[in-house]
Amino acid sequence: MTAYVRFSDSVETVEPGEEETFRKIIDVMAKGGRMARERYGHSVRTSHAKAHGLLKGALEVLPDLPPELRQGLFAEPRSYPAIVRLAHVPGEFLDDRRVSTPRGMAIKVIGAEGPKLPGHAGQVTQDFVLDTGKAFIAPSAGVFLGSITLTEAATPMPEGVKAAVSAASRASNVVLNAVGLNSANLDFFGHPFNHPMTESYFTQCPLRYGEHIAKIGFFPLNKDGGDLTVQSFEPQDEDGLRTAVVTYFRRHPAIFEVRVQLCTDLDRMPVENASAEWPEDESPYRPVARLTLMPQEAFTPARREFVDERLLFCPAHSLEAHRPLGSVMRARMRVYEALGPARLRENGRPRVEPRSIDELPA
Ligand code: HEM
Repeated sequence: MTAYVRFSDSVETVEPGEEETFRKIIDVMAKGGRMARERYGHSVRTSHAKAHGLLKGALEVLPDLPPELRQGLFAEPRSYPAIVRLAHVPGEFLDDRRVSTPRGMAIKVIGAEGPKLPGHAGQVTQDFVLDTGKAFIAPSAGVFLGSITLTEAATPMPEGVKAAVSAASRASNVVLNAVGLNSANLDFFGHPFNHPMTESYFTQCPLRYGEHIAKIGFFPLNKDGGDLTVQSFEPQDEDGLRTAVVTYFRRHPAIFEVRVQLCTDLDRMPVENASAEWPEDESPYRPVARLTLMPQEAFTPARREFVDERLLFCPAHSLEAHRPLGSVMRARMRVYEALGPARLRENGRPRVEPRSIDELPA
């Protein structure tokens, strides 16, 4: 019988000086944010600024899960409403035909019951902030801090240069070579042109899964329930990803299967190394829920005002049962909470944490 590692506080190892690293990450990213603000006259997310879909969905927990998977949000077979924001990595608005980067999917599940992390007490939301790729490019917050100096250096580059980097990187994936980064996952400017609804999205970093520890992935299914194969497409306009998503949702629903990879060995499936892909032959991703997005208008002005300008998607918006784990996650819990609210303040927008899906405009 498989033994699943039991969660306890001791699965994390806090390095001395981490707080200083987190503060420096905030400083570097805030500097990028100021540059973007000067360019747009408005503060935008310092990562994943450009959204290409703002969606209403439902997360349905599957019945008859085995005990090890029946944890936290997934403890009972029930349906939760959810708000989904699709975006891609850069903290600026780039031309989709010229630069292609990893894609993000941020999900705010509404109606999550049970104790929340201290800063999230009293709320009813559970956020999952996901990207394409099964592991993160950097193992730790310290290595990430070193690498964003490269990314920061890329921000003021003319777009033509970025496009050249993107093409070269798609071909060879060797353009960025910061020490310590996992080059297998290094597609920062070279992500293939896949339709966002054919991509799988991952937590990349581990989190608590009730009594256990896990990574979570959202896998696209076709209408018969089989895995959807990735389809390439060429964006036709500068907002080509948004056009593709909006066009898709005028006629079609999308279904993602939520799958959980439980940690069975802390050496081969480490908590403190976010760039380690956990071996699926030892512990496969197993289905626990479905996220269904029905046909809808996927990018309306009212949704843009609500989701882009008033909502914050943060790893720290979590049940205790799904506490984010490891150095990169500890950094994220600080950084999003510093830069997100600052962005809202700079734009004169109130911070909204929904209690009902009815707050999401049509
Ligand atoms: C140390 C590592 C990381 C740092 C410091 C970081 C920082 C940030 C910041 C500052 C934002 C903008 C927050 C806002 O203004 O509201 C953001 C957004 C985002 N990040 Fe990260 N991030 C990190 C790692 C990751 C990872 C590992 C993933 C996915 C697996 C990820 C996915 C996203 C997504 C999808 C968004 C957009 C959220 C939204 O739609 O509002 N990030 N990140």
